[in-house]
Parts: sequence; C-alpha cells; structure tokens
Amino acid sequence: MNIYLIGFMGTGKSTLGRVLSQRIGWPWIDTDQEIVKRQNRTIPEIFASEGEAYFRDRETELLKELALRKRILVTTGGGMVLRSENRELMRKSGIVISLTADRNVIRDRVARQGNRPLLAGDELEQRIDRLLKERAELYNEADIQIDTTSGDIDAAVRELLANPA
Ligand code: S3P
Repeated sequence: MNIYLIGFMGTGKSTLGRVLSQRIGWPWIDTDQEIVKRQNRTIPEIFASEGEAYFRDRETELLKELALRKRILVTTGGGMVLRSENRELMRKSGIVISLTADRNVIRDRVARQGNRPLLAGDELEQRIDRLLKERAELYNEADIQIDTTSGDIDAAVRELLANPA
C-alpha cells in the first residue's frame, strides 16, 4: 500500500509530505515536481503552452505508474482528484489522506507563492471559493482528513501517525 496526500492548493501537502516521509522512512514523490522534472518546464509554462487537459493527462499517466509501486508516499497536485479514474487508482493502491485548511489561510499561503495558473489574475478569493466548492466532495472521499490551518506541521504528523486507518 502507498500513502496519498490530497487536498486543495495551499493545504500543506508538500510541506507535510517532506516531514512525513522522513518520519516513516518511505520514498516521497510529489506529482507536480515529478511532472515538472519530466517536462523540463514549470507548471505555469505547461498550462500556458499545452493547456490544462494535457497536464491532467500527465497526472493520470504518472499516477498509474505510482499505483504499481509499494510503500511510497505520494503528494498530489490539488486537481488530482478531479478525474474519477485517479480517485479510484489512489483508493485501490493506498490510504488517501485529505488535507484541509481555512479559506483565508489558503489565500495567504497561495498569495505568497504565486505559482498556480488556476489562481492567477484578479479576484483570488472568488477563484478559491469557486474551486473549493466544486471540489469539496472529492476531497471528502478520503480515508482520513487532517486540518492544517494552524500550520503546526509536527502536530499534523502526530495526528496522522496516531490514526488507526
Ligand atoms: C492544481 C494544483 C497545483 C498544480 C496545478 C493545478 C489544481 O498543485 O497541480 O497548478 O488544479 O488544484 P498544488 O496543489 O500542489 O498547488
């Protein structure tokens, strides 16, 4: 079985992934980073030149590979849950952990980073609210939910490791 971290942009998937992989000693793969490495260009560049559907195809392609492996920790891009095929691949090959955070905390985190094509432009809060609403149910399908609003990574890892699932 693998461990998959899903959740909206800015919920701390990569930050938590780094700490958790050290703690449990499993290899860690971040799907965004892996796609960037393979494509040799940034996510905004991929979206701009190839479009979102192309990026989603690369996500599914990669997830199919990862689902064949064992005992890896996978952190996913916030849109990995959009395709039912992806949700099924994760469910069948591992434990799915959903990270959540308050909208204002998400807003502050993503505004600091500024590298998400789907949140580029004006009206950041409206964009976040719309996407959160569209995706809430998909993130809720996870086996475990962890709230990262406080930003206390150690507490989130402790909570995770204490979870019987
Ligand atoms: C996306 C989230 C991003 C990245 C891409 C699309 C999304 O990953 O995959 O910009 O659709 O939510 P993070 O969740 O790591 O920011």
